[in-house]
Amino acid sequence: MLVCSCNFITDREIRDVIIDMLNEDCWQLIVPGKVYRAMEKRGRCCGCFPNVVDIIIQTTEDYHRNASREDERVCDFMQRLRNFHDEQKNKMAAIRTARPKVA
Ligand code: FES
Repeated sequence: MLVCSCNFITDREIRDVIIDMLNEDCWQLIVPGKVYRAMEKRGRCCGCFPNVVDIIIQTTEDYHRNASREDERVCDFMQRLRNFHDEQKNKMAAIRTARPKVA
């Protein structure tokens, strides 16, 4: 499924990059900019970033579940990631409402 129409990036490509990053350091904080940098792309309109964050959360959760990590540590990490996601969503919403409307 196409996630980023500006760069023609699919969810599969995003997941593959996230898994590569998790294989390098499974506890690093992954954000859309980091994923796009790894693909040598950059956000243009950034409208896809909330969906990319959802993919990051789901992929990271699946990665740790499959790796049979200690459940307590995974839950803590996932809660931190969800908090970060919520903060980013709020910031994006604030930016969108602050932008002047173009007629
Ligand atoms: S849709 Fe991804 S940068 Fe525009």
